[in-house]
This record gives sequence, structure tokens and C-alpha cells, in this order.
Amino acid sequence: MKNPFGSFKRAAALGAVTLAAVSLQPLSSAQAYTDNGGGPSTRVVGGTKAEQGEFPFMVRLSMGCGGSMYAEDIVLTAAHCVDGSGENTSITATGGVVDLESPDAVTAKSTKVLQAPGYDGNGKDWALIKLDKPLGIPTLKTADSDAYNKGDFTIAGWGADKEGGSQQQHLLKATVPFVDDATCKKAYSNLIEAEEMCAGFIDEGGVDTCQGDSGGPMFRKDDSDQWIQVGIVSWGEGCARPGKPGVYTEVSHFNADIAKAAAEL
Ligand code: ARG
Repeated sequence: MKNPFGSFKRAAALGAVTLAAVSLQPLSSAQAYTDNGGGPSTRVVGGTKAEQGEFPFMVRLSMGCGGSMYAEDIVLTAAHCVDGSGENTSITATGGVVDLESPDAVTAKSTKVLQAPGYDGNGKDWALIKLDKPLGIPTLKTADSDAYNKGDFTIAGWGADKEGGSQQQHLLKATVPFVDDATCKKAYSNLIEAEEMCAGFIDEGGVDTCQGDSGGPMFRKDDSDQWIQVGIVSWGEGCARPGKPGVYTEVSHFNADIAKAAAEL
């Protein structure tokens, strides 16, 4: 039995003061959750099943997070999904399938982890995981400017399909609109505007990433019709609540740091 919330203790310890309600991580927010009895319950939250091959760069990590292929043997995920930097052979990455139980799944083990330098539970929520072999699936390009930090984004993951819900065997997807920093700051006074960006239906809620989607990509099409990653699932207050959009690591802000770290990993 894998523990999808293995990184919770550390993230909670580091983030407890500022993020007690606005949980960076798994189940604490589910426990704190008061809602109207389930809310609009479809999936990611408010999404649908992804087709096989639709998002071939998506990876599931054994600690219960998502990720995206950054290079043939490197996964980009969230800092709060890992325990620190260094040699690490404890993580399994699974890709190539929407159904995690499919015999077609490809897996690899971690060899090293690089958690964002200076990560302290607030902002800088990115990390790289080096694998013991190429997974043999496509990579997802990352945004090197803020040009695509607008419009509608795709989110996808095997995380909970509602606040307090269970992890999913089948990859779910949804579309969420960009929320500008000024609007998001009203929802979250602790938002780090340079390092984080928000997405969701601010008034109605209903569609969002949720616990277990962390570390996965938020992405859209670029001007050449290629998928480009603009965000990493980071945190939110509950999931899909009206007035509480999802918060994502702003990939463009860290793109150069990520590239440098990957080259050295
Ligand atoms: N921190 C969560 C995780 O570890 C992701 C939460 C995303 N929450 C949200 N409302 N968008 O999986």
C-alpha cells in the first residue's frame, strides 16, 4: 500500500504557521473541510477522464504526487512532494498510461532528487527527480517567459476527485481559466506573486486540482500548437471552493533555475 501523503509531515511542519488552513499538502485540509455536502462532484475536481495518449508526458509518482517529463530521465514535480535533495532511490515514476493498473505502464526508479534551492514551504515549489533510466515517453516543454500566463489551462492528475475524496486510478483532466495576481491576492493574502500563479473559476469554483495532483503540470497550447507547461500544482484552500482558486508554481519564473538544475543533476 503506497502512502500518497508521504510528504505531508514535512510540508506541514514547514508550512504549519502560514498554511494551516491553506494547506500546501494533502489531508489536513480535507479534515478542516466544511462544505455544502459534496459540492459539484465530478473529477480532477470537475473534470473528465483523459484519453490514452492525450497527455503522454504525465507521470504519477509513488509518494502520491503528479509530475511531468522534463527530460527523458528527469521528472519535474513540486518541492513539497519530496523530502529534500540528494541520492534517493525510494520514488517510483509511472508513465505511458492513463490507467495506473494497465500492463502497458512504464516505470523507473529515482536515483537523485533536487528540491528547489531555498525551499522553505512558501513559494519555490518545484523539484526535479532523476530516474535510473529513460521512461521512453515524450517530454513537456516549459514556459521560458510569461507570454502564456493567460487564457485557459489544462490540468490533469490522479489526485482526489473532490475535497476529501480518494486518489484516482484513471487520469482526470479539466480546463481552468487564469486568475490574475491581484484577484488571487484577495483570496490568499500570502500569495507570492512572482513565484505563484492562480487558476480556477473564481466566482463559482467547481473545477480544480486537489490532493494528490500536486507536482503535476498545468499547461496550454503555445503559438505553434505545442503543449507548454506554465504551472506546477502547488496548493489551495480546500479544492474547487468558490473564491479559492488553485495556486500553481509559476514555471516561467523558475525556468532558468530548473534548466540549470537539470543540467547538473
Ligand atoms: N497540495 C496538494 C497536493 O499535495 C495540491 C492541492 C491543490 N489544491 C487546489 N485546490 N488546487 O496534492
